[in-house]
Amino acid sequence: MKELHVGLGDRAYPILIEAGLLDRVGADLKARAVAKRYAVIADDHVAGLYAGLLMNSLTAAGIAAELVTFPRGEASKHLATVAALASELAQRGFDRRDGLIALGGGVTGDITGFLAAVYMRGIRFVQVPTTLLAQVDSSVGGKTGVDIPEGKNLVGVFYQPRCVYIDSQALLTLPEAELLNGLAEVIKYGVIADRDFFDFLEEKRLAILARELPVLEEVIKICCTIKARVVEADEREADLRRILNFGHTIGHAVEAASQYALAHGSAVAMGMAAVVELARLQGLLVADEAARIRQLISDFGLPVAIPPAYDRQTIIGYLKTDKKTVAGRPFFVLPTAIGKVVITDDVAEDLIRAVL
Ligand code: NAD
Ligand code: GLY
Repeated sequence: MKELHVGLGDRAYPILIEAGLLDRVGADLKARAVAKRYAVIADDHVAGLYAGLLMNSLTAAGIAAELVTFPRGEASKHLATVAALASELAQRGFDRRDGLIALGGGVTGDITGFLAAVYMRGIRFVQVPTTLLAQVDSSVGGKTGVDIPEGKNLVGVFYQPRCVYIDSQALLTLPEAELLNGLAEVIKYGVIADRDFFDFLEEKRLAILARELPVLEEVIKICCTIKARVVEADEREADLRRILNFGHTIGHAVEAASQYALAHGSAVAMGMAAVVELARLQGLLVADEAARIRQLISDFGLPVAIPPAYDRQTIIGYLKTDKKTVAGRPFFVLPTAIGKVVITDDVAEDLIRAVL
């Protein structure tokens, strides 16, 4: 078992990573005595795949738990789902001594974390991520929240889990497109923070795509270590945490311009390729490094070019109104070498247009 630590003082927590861990969550939670009983929150698809295993492990450890589900997909990530789940908890008599377990992808984790933060003014919760994206990114760091019609993730709070249980074996049932969504985030970590990890991704690409579990666990461990260090230094995204948005500024704008038809990972991949070119054009990144990054993105089967059908002016419009944009000036995370980045909002609009 790999064990990491997110050092946030009285809100510190462990991240446990192991193939088959779902089976052992009950025994570990029992020992940690996080809560009296639990509501396991899962989307209806993940519930069919993994809730039985998790519920059995809780029951075997003598922990009382009930399953509560909601329809799968981003369309469920809104306030009405939180309200419905809160009513369900209240009707089942859940109180402040009880806790929530988020079993699923980032949608489940974001909804459950937010629900835990607001139900009875805050109850404990645990993350059991089952997508690669959730295992390397969204389950760690305490960003929780939901979408509103005006935009994604516009309502939320920072609220840390008590523990993160990562079972790499869950990735074996993940559809290919969802694996790619996670891989875009994995590449992100190599570029922003860890040149050796970037080399590792180049070297182990085929094993990763073949879902060899020891290699996937190493990938998850390194990504979570990087994320934990960033979150420890800047939990509330005052500065450093913004590096996790590498590729996302343009990625989110392209995703919005596609009216969310484009997969998140594809949009982030296009966004990463675009800012790599931006860094090269600004003289921050040498051509060889830029080419290596583009090559790795593309070798993993992710796109590096924004389709001509997406109107560039519309993309620029979304860039200017993104929730992280201040005074109409979007910020960009630009690599200066593989493993090193700078954050800037000083980029001329014609340069942005050129890389789009
Ligand atoms: P998701 O939770 O919708 O999961 C994707 C799909 O995979 C769903 O249909 C789900 O049912 C299915 N699935 C999950 N695990 C599976 C498994 N093991 N086998 C088979 N199918 C499985 O989406 P996601 O990509 O995990 O997360 C996206 C969300 O995460 C977005 O809402 C995004 O805003 C959020 N996010 C949050 C953070 C954060 O820091 N909180 C970071 C990145 C993304
Ligand atoms: N996924 C970006 C962050 O957690 O800050």
